[in-house]
Parts: sequence; C-alpha cells; structure tokens
Amino acid sequence: MTVTAGTAVYWRSLLDHHARESPNLMRDDLPPILIPDAPTITVVSAPARASFSILPPVQERPRVLVVDDEKFIRDILADFLGMEGYEVRTAEDGVAALHEMQRHPYDVVISDLKMPKMGGIELLDEIARRTPNVLTVIMTGFGTVETAIDAMKRGAYDYVLKPFKVEEVVHIIQRALEKQRLSAENLRLREAVSLYKVSEAIAASLSLDEVMATVCDTALHEIRADFVSTWLDDGEGSYFERNRVVAPPRTSVLPAAFDPLAPEPKPEPAHNNDEATTQPILNEVDPEVMRAHLAIDSMLLEHGQRGQRFFKEGPGRPTQSVIGVPLRAGGAAPRLIGWILAASFTPGRRFDEGQRKLLSIVGSRAAAAIDNARLYEDLKATFKQTIQGLARALDRLDRYTSGHSDRVAMYATMLAIKLALPPELVEIVRQSALMHDIGKIGCVLNLNKPGKLTNEDYEAFKRHPAYGRDILEPIKFLQPLIPGVHLHHERWDGKGYPLGLGGNDIPLIARIVAVADTYDAMTSDRAYRRALPHEVTVAEIERCSGTQFDRSVAETFLEAIEEFRAQKMATGETIPE
Ligand SMILES: [Fe+2]
Repeated sequence: MTVTAGTAVYWRSLLDHHARESPNLMRDDLPPILIPDAPTITVVSAPARASFSILPPVQERPRVLVVDDEKFIRDILADFLGMEGYEVRTAEDGVAALHEMQRHPYDVVISDLKMPKMGGIELLDEIARRTPNVLTVIMTGFGTVETAIDAMKRGAYDYVLKPFKVEEVVHIIQRALEKQRLSAENLRLREAVSLYKVSEAIAASLSLDEVMATVCDTALHEIRADFVSTWLDDGEGSYFERNRVVAPPRTSVLPAAFDPLAPEPKPEPAHNNDEATTQPILNEVDPEVMRAHLAIDSMLLEHGQRGQRFFKEGPGRPTQSVIGVPLRAGGAAPRLIGWILAASFTPGRRFDEGQRKLLSIVGSRAAAAIDNARLYEDLKATFKQTIQGLARALDRLDRYTSGHSDRVAMYATMLAIKLALPPELVEIVRQSALMHDIGKIGCVLNLNKPGKLTNEDYEAFKRHPAYGRDILEPIKFLQPLIPGVHLHHERWDGKGYPLGLGGNDIPLIARIVAVADTYDAMTSDRAYRRALPHEVTVAEIERCSGTQFDRSVAETFLEAIEEFRAQKMATGETIPE
C-alpha cells in the first residue's frame, strides 16, 4: 500500500488497512484531518538495553518511537507498527523524544526531519552520542534526499522517502531490529568468551596477586570502570584495601546532565568534563558502609548521590555509578572475606544490571580462588618458618657455626641477585643456602670437638649432603632445594663429593651455595682455627676459581662482596675484617 502524504490516497490507504486489520473500527470514529504536503518522516534508533550474555534474553516486544510534529503521521505509524506487534510511543519533536528516551529504552526511532525545538538531524546526533545502539530511521520528502543522505552519513540506519508504502516502513523496521538482534548476539558471545577466559585465569591461579590483578583488570575493561577497589579481611574482624586501580583519563565523555529542554546548548560542559576526567581520583571507599550494606544485601548498583555514600567525605569526584560485589567463601556458612567496588566518575556513564551480574560472577569465582591462594600462602609461610627453625636449631648444635646458615643464605642471595637470576630462583637459592647443612642432623658427630677431624670423622661428615637430600626428598615443597643441599660440596674440577660431578653438570644453585659457604666458613671462627681475614679469603677464592669453584660465579661473588662491604661500612655496620 502506498502512502502519499498530502493526498486522499494516504488517508484512504489507512482506512482500508484498518478495515482489513480492525474491522470493528468505525470510520466515523476517525477525526477529519488535513494532511500537509510532503511530510517528512525520519526513523531514528532507540536506547540500547542492557545486553549482557549472563542476562536472559529480553523477550519483550521491540520498542519503536515515532517522532513527528504532525499528529496524524504519529498516529498512523503508531497504528500500523502497533498492529505489527511493536510497542510504539510517539513524540512531537526531538526534545520530547529525548525526554521519552530517558524514561524508557527504545530499539528504533523513526523521526521526521523538520520539527520545531529540535529537528531530526539534531536528534540523530544526540541519540548517536547518548545511546549509539539505538537505530534511527529518517522520514523525508522528495525535495530533501540530500538531507536524508546526510542523515545516513551521520549514522542513521536508513531513510524513507515520501510518498512511501507502509509495508516499506514496516520492512525497514524489521530489518533494523534484525540487525540489532544480531549485533546484540555478537556482543553477548564476545562477553561470554571474555567471562570464560577471566574465570579460567582466576581458577588456574594460586597467586593472590594474580587473582586480584585479574579481578581489577576485568572491572576496568569489561565494566569500563574508572576506579576499582578490592578489600579483604585481615583475619581479625577488619577489612583492608588490597588493590586500588584507576583507569587512565578517557578523552570523549558526555555532558554531565544534558537537559533537552534547556533553552540553549550547555554553556561549558566540555571544559568541565575535561577537568573532571583529568582530575586525580581521590575518592576513598568507606569500608563500614560497604560492609553494612553487603551484610544484608549482596546486590549493590547505585547511581549518583546514592552511590556517593560508599565513599568517605573528602576531595573525591562525584559518583556517577557504583557496583559492589561481595566476596564470600567457606562452603555451607560462607563468610564475607572481602568485596570488589567498581565506580564510574565519567558523566553520563552509568553501570547497568548486566555489568553488575558480570562482576558478581567474577567475584564468586575470585572468592574461592582468593581463599585457596591465601591458604597456599599460609602454607608457604609456615614452610619458610619451618626451614628457618630447622636451620637455626642446627646452628645451635655447634657453637662455632652459630649464624652460619643465615649468613650463607645472605651471601648466596646477594650472589644470585648479582647474577641477575629471576626472583623465584633467588628465593630458591636463599632457602637452599639456609638449609645447605641440614643433613648434619644425620651425622652423629661432636661438632664442638676441638682440633682437626679424624679420617673417620671426615668420612661421616661427608655424608651430610646425602642425608640432607634424604631429609628433603619426601616433602614436595622442599624438592626444589635439593640440588643446593645435596651438591654444595661438588667441585668445578670434579673432585668434590658426594657425586664427583664437574663443570656445568653441577647445578648453578649448588655452585652459588659452594662459594657462599666457603666465604663464610673461612671468615668465621671454627673449633680448629680463628677466622681468616677478608683479604685472605678473597685471595683463596681467587686461587680456587676454575678448580674448586665455577670461575664466573666466583668472580661475580667477589664483585658482589666488595659492594656489600662498602655498603655496610657506609652505614657503620660490622663486617668480617
Ligand atoms: Fe656443608
């Protein structure tokens, strides 16, 4: 059916359509109307609904907003589109349309071009800025094809030329909605993939730092937060801020509170917004308010002033939107182990329910991982304390070697750092050095016996590296320390014990511990001799480079020990002579 505005055909067509679709509607019920020449019809798009994969698909009727200053055009389109099953509302100009769009979400907006207060192009620009997912269709007469093309260039989805067929308008709306459905599906798919990756990353990690970093990263990038703050309990009833991340300033922002009825476009919002986004974010989360809220309500999505109360009073930026997600762990009776707070300070950017749900899912995965990571860290801390306890207990058996394990650990760590080993390897070197003589526990020796060891004593003593390995081997955690403990008496020339390995067959950790052990042994008092001076010890290590010691390790040690002594002397600390 062709609708030609300004002609009787237009009206006749409508009546015919009504008669077909709504036989009970009396023609006399319709008011007499005058149809102006060439009314301009423009279809504009509607505000995007929250479309997140974790939300069930929205099954409500697609919403269409018809904008035209001519009442009859609004009514005709409302009737036709309503009969096609769409939820249709009308507005008489761009300003009224923006008001309506603030109240309800729309999928498609059909708008006239020429209207008082705000025309179609201006409305189109405003919709593109505020709700870019809403599709817009422009209605225009013959004389304004160029304007219609201009509208397309500015982002309109399509245009309709008068005279138009009603079926044509319906077809365009159907196409627009199909396009929107596909892009929403695409978006949901991308978000589902992203959520899956985040969950995997969290579940795979035993490191608290990594888990917290992933959580913050997700909030910054998936939720597009300006500010993320994570809090954890300290085990004593209080909560502390574990991480705080602030997004870099974003350049393009919307006006703070655009009022479509304002007489003139806002006087200085651009300047204000620039300032708002470049100001540092000084907002401080109020843990008491957060905790009180999450204790009774796991859902936290607040906007504007209502979001402000989760921050302490102070020099912070005004809150646009806040999401809070509890972190609960502990099976049947979960306890609040912390929370994630994400905030938007960008004018016009509000979080939606889909984003809250996304963060909530991340939070629930993170809570279990945080609990595990903390248990693991406790276990590691206990393990370290156990090692230190054992090493010190050993040192106490021998008054001459008191403090030896700690000092060898210190020298070995210094050397490992100088060799530029990665931090995790430096830590293994340190612990290994601390434990290097643990096997002496297995030697029935009088370590305090004055004078030199007999051959028998010496043979028994030489078993301590193997005993050390035997002690560590059953404990999985301690296995990385075994090379440093088992092989610290090997020599570069292959004349050491217990295996007689040579050169690079000796693990680097063991080569490091060997030099550190020798330096401390020589510069300390022993039952059978006084401590040797530093210079003598250095000369001895130099002499044994390439035979007893790996030359490059020994040379690096000598550089490191000189720097170490210089530092100690500068701070007035005592060092071996
Ligand atoms: Fe040893």
